[in-house]
Amino acid sequence: KGDPRLEAISAAIRVVPNFPKKGIMFQDITTLLLDHKAFKHTIDIFVDRYKDMQISVVAGVEARGFMFGPSIALAIGAKFVPLRKPGKLPGKVISESYELEYGHDRLEMHVDAVKPLERVIIIDDLVATGGTLSAAISLMESQGAEVVECACVIGLPEVKGQHKLKGKPLYVLVEPS
Ligand code: PRP
Repeated sequence: KGDPRLEAISAAIRVVPNFPKKGIMFQDITTLLLDHKAFKHTIDIFVDRYKDMQISVVAGVEARGFMFGPSIALAIGAKFVPLRKPGKLPGKVISESYELEYGHDRLEMHVDAVKPLERVIIIDDLVATGGTLSAAISLMESQGAEVVECACVIGLPEVKGQHKLKGKPLYVLVEPS
């Protein structure tokens, strides 16, 4: 709020009506990735927030959490852990399902990716219902890791996400107007 960098980030996100289906206002962060200044601001804000919080793990949610997480991890001296859709990871995985509008999906993580008591940030491009982030939190907690915060570039305002996130704080940069 009041930070001109947030205005630049908002302006760089393209809104595509009726994608992937009718009635959805799709928040397209690929245009943010094309805008060097706005992309850098995005990473810088997260890095400034997390650099002195003893975070050793940045976990990114497939697919768009992968576009922000590694840059943040490198800058704060943490490792990056991909949380993937089912069947993609070759090692021993733990799996957590979550609700979609119609049906379920699952997220998976390699069990040896985090150790008990490690301090984790979970990153994604967008939070809507919070179902995806909740599954990500459960994966981390099942390994005894401590989720310090969930961080997203975009937070949809109508969302009850905060209530769903197992009491974990949620940090979002912008809300669609
Ligand atoms: C989108 C978004 C988040 C999730 C948020 O991913 O990137 O991961 O939905 O929704 P929620 O808060 O209601 O759970 P999507 O399901 O489109 O998958 P993709 O990134 O692999 O395309």
